[in-house]
Amino acid sequence: MISPPARFTPRLLTIPVTFFLLFIIYSHHGIFTTLEQYSKTPILLPGSGQSPPPLTHEASTPSLHLIGDSSMCKGGTNDGVKGVKYEGWGEFMKDYFTIPVVSHAISGRSCRMYSREGRFDKVLSLTNPNDYVIIQFGRNEKGTLHPKDNGKTVCPGPNITETCDGNFQGKPTTVLTFGGYISNVTRIFKEKGVNVIIASPTTNNAYSFSSDRFFDKPNEWVGYSEGVARFEEVEYVDHFKYGIEMMRKLGKEGTQELFPVKSDRSHTNALGADMMAKAFVRGVVCGGGGLGKWVDGKAMERVGG
Ligand SMILES: *[C@@H]1O[C@H](CO)[C@@H](O)[C@H](O)[C@H]1NC(C)=O
Ligand SMILES: *[C@@H]1O[C@H](CO)[C@@H](O)[C@H](O)[C@H]1NC(C)=O
Repeated sequence: MISPPARFTPRLLTIPVTFFLLFIIYSHHGIFTTLEQYSKTPILLPGSGQSPPPLTHEASTPSLHLIGDSSMCKGGTNDGVKGVKYEGWGEFMKDYFTIPVVSHAISGRSCRMYSREGRFDKVLSLTNPNDYVIIQFGRNEKGTLHPKDNGKTVCPGPNITETCDGNFQGKPTTVLTFGGYISNVTRIFKEKGVNVIIASPTTNNAYSFSSDRFFDKPNEWVGYSEGVARFEEVEYVDHFKYGIEMMRKLGKEGTQELFPVKSDRSHTNALGADMMAKAFVRGVVCGGGGLGKWVDGKAMERVGG
């Protein structure tokens, strides 16, 4: 049996009319016109008639996590001269920031070894969204992969996606470039909402012992650090450059005081570590990045302009 055609009733009009009126109201108020406006529109809870408290990024205090090698870590180096007090610059960072600083730096590590040992994963598990993490490597990456692969050496060059073959502990293994390891983990931190700051490696003692030369030319790891920070679009601090500036001001004698063993041009004492921390803070403030707002204003006076 064929049903008769539905008869027109005024009730059928209410649905389209309601939609039309809602459209007019929303477009009149400009709601949903841009994604940005949409995200700022408070969500009204049904029945409450009140908007929830505004979400802010400063809801809780973030922490600053440090990832790096002997130039950054507590005690400076494991394999220094016995009885000599070394120190890493990460130990002084708490003096310059108003947020908690946690160092995960460890002597002798390259970015590859840090990754291989599961240390990035450990830091990942300890960070919360809105925290900051500084990643600094470039002192233990150089070497050959054949015949012996020490598990630290990375593939040469600036290409972030290139890989090469290693054979760590006799097992064939795929090795990444410096940029590859750092890009990989930076992306994971970013996905978690953690703010990554990539720092170029610190400078060694820039003064020559035997001549008037001053080594202010950045090495390849400085360039790779900048390259991967650009690639991942995260904050970059040219720690190398700011350290060089400070050593230039200090002069040859003053700079030598930062290094407890004359023949060791890379490992600092507490004075040198504090200078490197100051150089980093200057880099953060001059760079205008997000970490700058957590720099202790009073401590800045000691950092100098
Ligand atoms: C990328 O980083 C994660 C976290 O540390 C690690 O588990 C993974 O193996 C890394 N990938 C490569 C290709 O190294
Ligand atoms: C980087 O390495 C990848 C993978 O080997 C390659 O396809 C690409 O062409 C390289 N990029 C440059 C600029 O050499």
